[in-house]
Amino acid sequence: MLGGVRTVTCHGRTLMPIPPDLRKYSQARRRPANQKLLEMTHLTLLGIETSCDETAAAVVKRRGPGDGAILANIVRSQLEEHRDYGGVVPEIAARAHVDCLDHIIAAALDEAGIKFHDLDGVAVTAGPGLIGGLMVGLISAKAISSVHKKPLIAVNHLEGHALTVGLTEGLEPPYLLLLITGGHTQLLIIHAAGDYERLGTTVDDAIGEAFDKTAKLLGLGYPGGPEVELKARDGNPDRFKFPRPMIGREKPDFSFSGLKTALRQAAQRIEPLSESDIADLCASFEAAVIATVGDRLDKAIAQYTSNNSFQESRHLVIAGGVAANKALREAFEVTAEKAGFQLHIPPPALCTDNAAMIAWAGSERLARGWTDPLDVPARARWPLERLTPSSTKDNHQAKDIGQ
Ligand code: KG4
Ligand code: ZN
Repeated sequence: MLGGVRTVTCHGRTLMPIPPDLRKYSQARRRPANQKLLEMTHLTLLGIETSCDETAAAVVKRRGPGDGAILANIVRSQLEEHRDYGGVVPEIAARAHVDCLDHIIAAALDEAGIKFHDLDGVAVTAGPGLIGGLMVGLISAKAISSVHKKPLIAVNHLEGHALTVGLTEGLEPPYLLLLITGGHTQLLIIHAAGDYERLGTTVDDAIGEAFDKTAKLLGLGYPGGPEVELKARDGNPDRFKFPRPMIGREKPDFSFSGLKTALRQAAQRIEPLSESDIADLCASFEAAVIATVGDRLDKAIAQYTSNNSFQESRHLVIAGGVAANKALREAFEVTAEKAGFQLHIPPPALCTDNAAMIAWAGSERLARGWTDPLDVPARARWPLERLTPSSTKDNHQAKDIGQ
């Protein structure tokens, strides 16, 4: 027992339950007057997340719009399995999900103090992500749905990140979203659950990928984001003048591959690298990322506020694993304040991959009556655009439309 909370182990490692301060989120509700009242029924959902290198299960109760509570949230990271390779190996990831998922689901139900029959639905990440891992989660969810006669909800992983602030702060759309993960870098208008408009995206690497590649190049650990952030704290951000890609362009797109190349060339020029060289490279890299993303944010904010109907909803949400970065959080607090926007970022443990966000997004869909058939496929690629039922069919057929 840890602090009265039962812990479970898998492969000899302890699975940490969510810390007590992240357990309950039932904040003040904010609902635009014109938004139709959603069904107020309490819904308890199991969420399953296996799209990359975290095996996760959670139980979330939705008590109404913008009113949710996390009853259990268990994440097992596969860091140990992938560390030697400096990145995620898809086949190893899928096998590790197979080994651990059942234990983790059982532990989540146990921690929430419920059984399968108490659930109102099973939400599972169906894409985008590594296809092997997605299939493991989806097959388990289908089995639970079929055996226990519970609705199945196939959730887009990005939708999970996008709607997390509804669970953590009771914030409801519309809002502007900066989505920054290991595979995606996008600016979106979240009009409503299921209704998303993309303003910009990356033309090459994703932001998290840029952090991970930088870390690998400098011989730091995996995943790279937290390592680069740690080193950057002691570094000089002005020592290296790295490019600020895309700055000034009207469309809020991103590009990070030039920055990565500039960093590699700078590192090669001063080899062998001392500890302070590494710190300066990381700090200069982070400064370039902040400058370029800040500029793209300004453009997206201008676009968002040009629509009169959003004047009352000046909310900027930042979500995804990279939003755990403290320097970025602080920099964009200033960006938001200057534009008269309120900034919302989930706590770090709910920025990185977890199943609570999947359960919550699933509950938003279930509350609207949007469920999925047992033959719903796993999708390695699945753009976050309109995900309302009328377009779900198209999405099922659209296999490779890019990110
Ligand atoms: O959202 P996420 O957990 O998984 C995906 O959906 O991709 O994001 C993972 C990414 C990784 O690239 C990781 O290096 C990055 O988020 N990340 C960070 C930090 N923590 C995680 N990047 C920068 N600073 C951090 N503190
Ligand atoms: Zn993610």
